[in-house]
Amino acid sequence: MTQDIYLTGITTTGTPHIGNYVGAIRPGIAASKDPSTEHFYFLADYHSLAKNEDPDKIVRSTLEIAAAWMALGLDTDRAFFYRQSDIPEIPELTWILTGMTAKGLMNRAHSYKAAVQANEERGNADPDKGIMMALYSYPILMAADILMFRSTKVPVGKDQKQHVEMARDIAQRFNHNYGETFVLPEPVIGEHTAVLKGLDGRKMSKSYNNTIPLFANEKQLRKLIMKIKTNSLEPGEPKGTADSTLFEIYKAFASSEETLAIEKAYAGGIAWGEMKQLLFEYINDHLKPAREEYQRLVANPEIVEAELQKGAEKARARSGPFLAEIRDAIGIRRLG
Ligand code: TRP
Repeated sequence: MTQDIYLTGITTTGTPHIGNYVGAIRPGIAASKDPSTEHFYFLADYHSLAKNEDPDKIVRSTLEIAAAWMALGLDTDRAFFYRQSDIPEIPELTWILTGMTAKGLMNRAHSYKAAVQANEERGNADPDKGIMMALYSYPILMAADILMFRSTKVPVGKDQKQHVEMARDIAQRFNHNYGETFVLPEPVIGEHTAVLKGLDGRKMSKSYNNTIPLFANEKQLRKLIMKIKTNSLEPGEPKGTADSTLFEIYKAFASSEETLAIEKAYAGGIAWGEMKQLLFEYINDHLKPAREEYQRLVANPEIVEAELQKGAEKARARSGPFLAEIRDAIGIRRLG
């Protein structure tokens, strides 16, 4: 039996929020404790170029996301924790894979299709107006990330499933043309991991600007929680938990007994203001120790950088020899 290799990337745009924490960071750190599997977690900074970010924001986001994983206890001796751009084999493999990727396959990518549709809806004569190759070829870079480390399992959100399937298609085509080289990856969609709603009740996402930053300070955290949308039921009126963002967030942090107690409080008509205060206190207590460590790391970027360098060295011990094999297979070789 071959052991599973889990790999997932985090695009370096924005500040980590509590939705990232419950959806990706917490399950990722928990999974990495299993000694029978290997785990690759990396900062996808080349992917952030597709979003046309300001350079300083990319650097800041890289620091914050890396510091968050470290502060929350990722064991970087066990897991491979690195920055995509520190692995030069990845862009090299991207170009190799570009040579085996059908343009028609990329035409079908949801994110590209959405950009074309937006142009059409705006009445632009050119459906490709303003669309950069970084967006168009995004799935190929992602395929290189995945295939480079022979990963078998790729935990992603539903929106990324198609990209993993494309990586699989590209790998199959390569294997067919050049012989068995790549392992075929599978997407892992966390059915049991919570997808949190944001302040306005839509999915918590940096693109909706409705997030609660994971390490907001106490004052900000309280302020944001007070802003979470509720309905207009009065104190004393029984409330349902089903559509309550406050309840959902509480549940994502609390134990099942604690959650049960809150369900009872809802039925008993807890006031929204009281529930908000309770949620604030709960999350604040839960995150306080990691927040202090996070602040220390963010104030000392050289500590984070040293971890990333260590991770790059470990990862390149795999990617270097594998890329040499791949180049050999396709006829990019020395002559004598
Ligand atoms: N595209 C992913 C996202 O935006 C991030 C990512 C980049 C990724 N490379 C990856 C995820 C490889 C999984 C595997 O969420």
